[in-house]
Amino acid sequence: SNQNFIRNFSIIAHIDHGKSTLADALMRVCGALEQRHEKEQFLDTMDIERERGITIKAQTVRLSFRAKDGNLYQLNLMDTPGHVDFSYEVSRSLAACEGSLLVVDASQGVEAQTLANVYKAIEHNHTLIPVLNKMDLPSADPENIKTQIQNLIGLSGDDALEVSAKKGTGIEAVLQSIVDRLPSPQGDATACLKALLVDSWYDAYLGVILLVRVVDGIITQKMKIFMMAANAVYTVEQIGIFTPYPTPVNHLACGEVGYIIANVKTVRDCHIGDTLTEEQRPATEALPGFKPCTPVVFCSLFPTEAGDFDRLRESLAKLHLNDASFSYEMDTSNALGFGFRLGLLGLLHLEVVQERLEREFDLDLIITAPSVVYKIQLQNGTWIDLHNPADMPTPNEIHSMLEPWIKATLLVPDLYVGAVLTLLVERRGIQDSLEYITPTRALMVYRMPLNEVAFDFYDTLKSLTRGHASFDYDMDGYEEGELVLLSILLNGEPIHALASVVPQMRAYEKGRAICEKLKGILPRQLFPIAIQAAVGGKILARETVSALRKNVTAKCYGGDITRKRKLLEKQKEGKKRMRKFGNIEIPQKAFIEVLKLG
Ligand code: GTP
Repeated sequence: SNQNFIRNFSIIAHIDHGKSTLADALMRVCGALEQRHEKEQFLDTMDIERERGITIKAQTVRLSFRAKDGNLYQLNLMDTPGHVDFSYEVSRSLAACEGSLLVVDASQGVEAQTLANVYKAIEHNHTLIPVLNKMDLPSADPENIKTQIQNLIGLSGDDALEVSAKKGTGIEAVLQSIVDRLPSPQGDATACLKALLVDSWYDAYLGVILLVRVVDGIITQKMKIFMMAANAVYTVEQIGIFTPYPTPVNHLACGEVGYIIANVKTVRDCHIGDTLTEEQRPATEALPGFKPCTPVVFCSLFPTEAGDFDRLRESLAKLHLNDASFSYEMDTSNALGFGFRLGLLGLLHLEVVQERLEREFDLDLIITAPSVVYKIQLQNGTWIDLHNPADMPTPNEIHSMLEPWIKATLLVPDLYVGAVLTLLVERRGIQDSLEYITPTRALMVYRMPLNEVAFDFYDTLKSLTRGHASFDYDMDGYEEGELVLLSILLNGEPIHALASVVPQMRAYEKGRAICEKLKGILPRQLFPIAIQAAVGGKILARETVSALRKNVTAKCYGGDITRKRKLLEKQKEGKKRMRKFGNIEIPQKAFIEVLKLG
């Protein structure tokens, strides 16, 4: 087919501004959903996505649209996840397209995520079409939003289309604009094959599916494909497109998007962003690749029931089939037993993995505080990456320590600006800029350590602003930090699961807070318990839980035996949920509560 009649586009939007609803409306107008009974929202295929309203896996749909010029156009919609944790997925979807629809909720306006995604689209040289959605709402204020688009993004507000994805109005005009305004692919159809590996996932029936965008050349049946980065050759067994239903085709021509199946064993054999070429006639140069997605946040997972360890391992392996972006390895903790250390792309990614394990695999999990990756230079000159606070070298072995920083973008209603500024200062934020984009909304750009947002930052920001602030971030290099290992000791024994790396100036305050919290949570035992917070052997804080002399059965002195037995059984039940540490039993709630301190 002729590339002039192809358009590849994605939709970028802030969460809840209506990306999925618009995608469905586009499919409906193009007749894509008539083949079978419609699912409510096709693109959000995973349960968790549907419930939480977030899109995780990139998906793609080929639409046929008859434009005003009478020609039938092939429109390939690449779905992109909206959340910053998945920015590598956003990037690879954007790299497969020439333009984007920029969807903005006409009653809400431009948000932090809109901006972050716009910057990415511009990096990929995208042509942007602004679309004001939810025009059916009485609170829609298109003129105001057009001004925001003009001021913040530099696109003419006059070019914005007004639609209601929900009511289905203005959708034809969006499709016609895609044809009119977005460039067609400009590949060389006769050159050696170059195709971009956009995504891959595991299907229980078909095996590993590769989603590709053909940049130059053509992919045909039985072709021997050479994956340049993976340095492996596979034979194409099946070629298809999503309409959105998987539909086999004979070939994928220059400029097209589709899937291939080629007997690839696991998604780990596929490097997303890799270039596919033909073994017989290979391209000499690969397409510009992606930054590999390296985990930035680590935490440990332990089953609440020690007997569930094998199930946890199997479940992680299954999950990994479809999400090669997290890493895991075995971990042990004297307090929590056997578990796994996970490396994740961010906090939302952690939540998604946790939820899938708990929901899809019915596991009850304990999660330790997420910790970022520190770079440590030892006295002998070597550098190490610290993934687990428990592995921290002793202070006299450390020459210097670097921590990851981020550039945060926040949009905050004026009412809450003061509170948010205080929060940012507390979290070691450094102001890049602060400006009012409308009389009632401020745009803040701050640099701060990732460590400071790694735990409860979203929640604190949300409650400070009653959910009216929006936040997004990008990694922004490493900087030297005055960091120390804060250990927690119970009767002199360090509890590794409770150790954390904290800024030196915050160690005392955090140590105190943890001791106080533990004191309130630890059940009294038959002997006193000393709770201590220490840095490098120096005790910063101490609390004591006094001894208990109560016998649970004392209450029913002389009373009837069944009641006595019941009480004892109850006590046994209570014990199950404890972890014995030395001679001290720690309820699991204590770990979680302490970790919540961040
Ligand atoms: P993520 O997938 O989480 O990024 O969200 P999204 O941007 O895909 O938003 P989604 O399409 O799920 O829509 C969010 C909410 O807005 C849903 O409750 C929709 O029903 C509603 N919505 C979407 N479009 C419109 C519209 O045109 N008018 C009105 N009134 N509501 C809409």
